[in-house]
Amino acid sequence: MLTLKKKTAEYIASVAAKAFGEGLLSAEDVISMLEYPPDKTMGDIALPCFRLSKILRRSPVQIAEALAGGIECEEFSSVSAVNGYLNLKIDGTAFAKRVVSDVFRDGDTYGSPKNGEGKTVVLDYSSPNVAKPFHIGHLGTTVIGHSLKLLHEFAGYKCVGINYLGDWGTQFGKLIVAYKMWGDKTVIEQGGVDELVKLYVRINNEIKAEEDGDEDKKSSLADASRAEFKKLEEGNEENLALWRWFVDVSLEEYQKTYKLLGIEFDSYKGESFYTDKMPAEVEKLRNMGLLEIDDGASIVNLEKWNMPVCLILKRDGSTLYPTRDIAAAVYRKGEYNFDKAIYVTSAAQSLHFAQWFKVVELMGYDWYDRLVHVPYGTVSINGAKLATRTGNVILLKDLFAEAIARVKEIAREKNPDEAKCQEIGEKVGVGAIVFYYLSNNRMRDINFMMEDALSFDGNTGPYAQYTYARTCSVLEKAGIVGEMTDAPLCELESELAKTISVFPERINQAIADYEPSVVTRYILDLCAAFNRFYHECSIANCDDEQLRSSRVALTRATNQVLRTALHLICMQSPEKI
Ligand code: ARG
Repeated sequence: MLTLKKKTAEYIASVAAKAFGEGLLSAEDVISMLEYPPDKTMGDIALPCFRLSKILRRSPVQIAEALAGGIECEEFSSVSAVNGYLNLKIDGTAFAKRVVSDVFRDGDTYGSPKNGEGKTVVLDYSSPNVAKPFHIGHLGTTVIGHSLKLLHEFAGYKCVGINYLGDWGTQFGKLIVAYKMWGDKTVIEQGGVDELVKLYVRINNEIKAEEDGDEDKKSSLADASRAEFKKLEEGNEENLALWRWFVDVSLEEYQKTYKLLGIEFDSYKGESFYTDKMPAEVEKLRNMGLLEIDDGASIVNLEKWNMPVCLILKRDGSTLYPTRDIAAAVYRKGEYNFDKAIYVTSAAQSLHFAQWFKVVELMGYDWYDRLVHVPYGTVSINGAKLATRTGNVILLKDLFAEAIARVKEIAREKNPDEAKCQEIGEKVGVGAIVFYYLSNNRMRDINFMMEDALSFDGNTGPYAQYTYARTCSVLEKAGIVGEMTDAPLCELESELAKTISVFPERINQAIADYEPSVVTRYILDLCAAFNRFYHECSIANCDDEQLRSSRVALTRATNQVLRTALHLICMQSPEKI
């Protein structure tokens, strides 16, 4: 499939070969130099020739003129050389015809770079900690992670989505103590993970109170918790059963949120799974002489790489977060033989990943450079209304519930069918949050504004979905399939075709930068181009049959690309809103 830049670059490279000699300039070189001029009067695409002076040994002006003289292609309506720039104007009609036929030919795969075939990507994302709140801070890892999975799948990679549940650690000792003291089976069965969190919060508070009231900062509850966790680690049946139950109750709850987002994981192997896989890695580290003893703890010194030490074993010999991640990576390499392993977490964990990636390298694992950490910024929320029982932590499910309720309320005004309203509420409400979140570069800190996210007027999810529904209703009304004809197109139609044509480039960029927001912003560009066209040109009612066919075809292409793009950022595309 040829994108605008690629096709143009190929022309230019072939003209350059004739004008200056073979082998000097490849299409790939040209692609990286092509620009979209901000001022459209200069053309639709431009090549700044000063960047070629060195290779071609001519002045930019000479190069631009020679290239302009050599280009003959019906897709360019004008070619000019201005001050060392080669400016190309696209012939809208011929160009749109090709773009739309590309979309129809490729269907659901239009825009795919198709470069992942035969390769495997493992994505570790969402990964909440059992019995701790699944909160708004997890929104990033969940939706960025899943979008990256969908993008890689789209490119043809085999993808493995892993939910590396935080299902092991001292918090389970606390929870077991708390449950035995204050817990009630039926209450937890009914209330789910919220009840577990309550127990967890309560024991933490009581431990703190004990510590504060004790000269030596001792707490009997903390001691008891450690003892229960130790029993759990040693395989005590009762504790194991409780632990399994806590995990199941939590998972059931997370699944509801995942279902709303259309997320399914291929593996739920959490931290507990790696307990027996760590000793071998610790042993390897020790044998390689990489471990140092520091105040009783075993560490890897990373001073040479300007990083603090990486903790492998605590003084009491227990393992740590990095130890587990190293063992998990080795296991996953063996299990999936990944070409790339992506980890999506908040930027607060960047150092952790840099450290253990380095340790993996020092251990001689040659796949260390296949490990990718994808960090993201913080989320805060405006409006006290959303504050939940758990204090100032906003639970993800509450955020979605609020959005769904608000959309449902609006839907009820027009729609008496309760089930339908619920469906719209879920698709549009959840989509609004996802879209709002993924509109920003992932490293940016976000202040979440529910009103803005749900608005139909701004650059929002509801607006994008509404535009999609609009393409559906136009197509339904037109009642014809529509094909591109030779009827001359106006500026708005060519602009729409150009926007459709850059989709493959944007997908490439989104994957290369691990940045779903590139797709979100593309969706806004496409919606804007379509809506301008829709408001100015009559489509289904156009009198000219040829033109009507072209316009319907353009609408159908928009519909196709919009659906693909929305899917890639974990959004649904309802046909009616
Ligand atoms: N459970 C961790 C948390 O909530 C995130 C795990 C990220 N993945 C990893 N392999 N370390 O902070």
